[in-house]
Amino acid sequence: MSTTRFLTGITTSGTPHLGNYVGSIRPAVQASLGSDVESFYFLADYHALIKTGDPVRIQRSTLEVAASWLAAGLNPDRVIFYRQSDIPEIPELTWFLACILGKGILNRAHAYKAAVDKNTAAGVDADADVTMGLFMYPVLMGADILMFNAHKVPVGRDQVQHIEMARDMANGFNHRYGEHFVIPDAVIEDKVATLPGLDGRKMSKSYDNTIPLFASRSQLQKLIAGIVTDSRTPGQAKSTEGSALFQIFRAFASDEETDHLRLAFTDGIAWSDAKRHVFDRIDRELAPMRETYHALINDPARIETILAAGANRARAIATPFMHQLRHAVGLRDLRTASSMTTAKTTKAAQPVFKQYRKKDGKFYFKRFNAQGQLLMQSEGFDSPQVAAQAIAALQAQ
Ligand code: TRP
Repeated sequence: MSTTRFLTGITTSGTPHLGNYVGSIRPAVQASLGSDVESFYFLADYHALIKTGDPVRIQRSTLEVAASWLAAGLNPDRVIFYRQSDIPEIPELTWFLACILGKGILNRAHAYKAAVDKNTAAGVDADADVTMGLFMYPVLMGADILMFNAHKVPVGRDQVQHIEMARDMANGFNHRYGEHFVIPDAVIEDKVATLPGLDGRKMSKSYDNTIPLFASRSQLQKLIAGIVTDSRTPGQAKSTEGSALFQIFRAFASDEETDHLRLAFTDGIAWSDAKRHVFDRIDRELAPMRETYHALINDPARIETILAAGANRARAIATPFMHQLRHAVGLRDLRTASSMTTAKTTKAAQPVFKQYRKKDGKFYFKRFNAQGQLLMQSEGFDSPQVAAQAIAALQAQ
């Protein structure tokens, strides 16, 4: 009855990294295992078009992201797992929402503002190289969420503003057209916040500082060894504050393990030892998934089958809901309004006849008015045909 709907997506513009895993995939898979939840997880490939013009990269990334989620334990029988571009209702809803949301709100979106600030600093036109796709990004994301009336949206902290905009759009639409949308809430893994990358800044494809989720064992070890540290020598106490290595460890470790490493930092553990420790802990969690991942990558047909089934389930919801929304905004079959009124008035004016047969073998009918009150009861007729003729005669009057 009171199932909570979770929904989240990953943009298919790169290779999934530890930040995606910790911030999105892992909490999403965990949430999907609970009872009383219904989960929608999707590959945000329309969003990918905003970020890259490289078709090969999008295709490859879509495969990698799908395989990552499945390898991380997503059960496609328990969740609705689909590809955004398989749901044509989403871009349609995007337009409806674009007609609701104020442009001024989008002017203040972080990603757009960052682009404008960069252009301004460079002394070029404020909107140089800004596509409408980038500008509309939050609207498309709002459509993703509202299409399925999600209650909870697990995202990284950097996405919270987008959820707030989705709430604005839902409220605006509901206010104008009646209650159609659930108002979604963001769910942030607070322990994790955003995972730092190799250079200590947020782990992100755009900073080129990521650790691929399914890097080989040796590659993973090498990358972790390359995480920036300060120059404190073995024996010197290390600060956990601002340590990317510590933050990354913490995202994989229990509270107890985290306390343990904190103590080792205070005790002056060598950076190389700390890094080996962090590698061991992360590899322990990822190794079994890594194997599944490679099996899936080598069987794209299996992934397509899974996504097609997911799209069917998603559209079983999206198609009728979009129908309802089209009606709500006034995109209607031109015949419906007039024929409905006509049907109502003629029905109201028409008396109703009910035929029946009694135990005496004769055929009778009753006449009711539109409100269901009995107006008359006929005499008995020898055949249903004669009774019907009598009804026709009355109707003709
Ligand atoms: N913008 C999200 C990101 O970059 C991905 C995304 C697209 C998403 N649509 C969404 C996340 C809907 C949650 C809900 O991380």
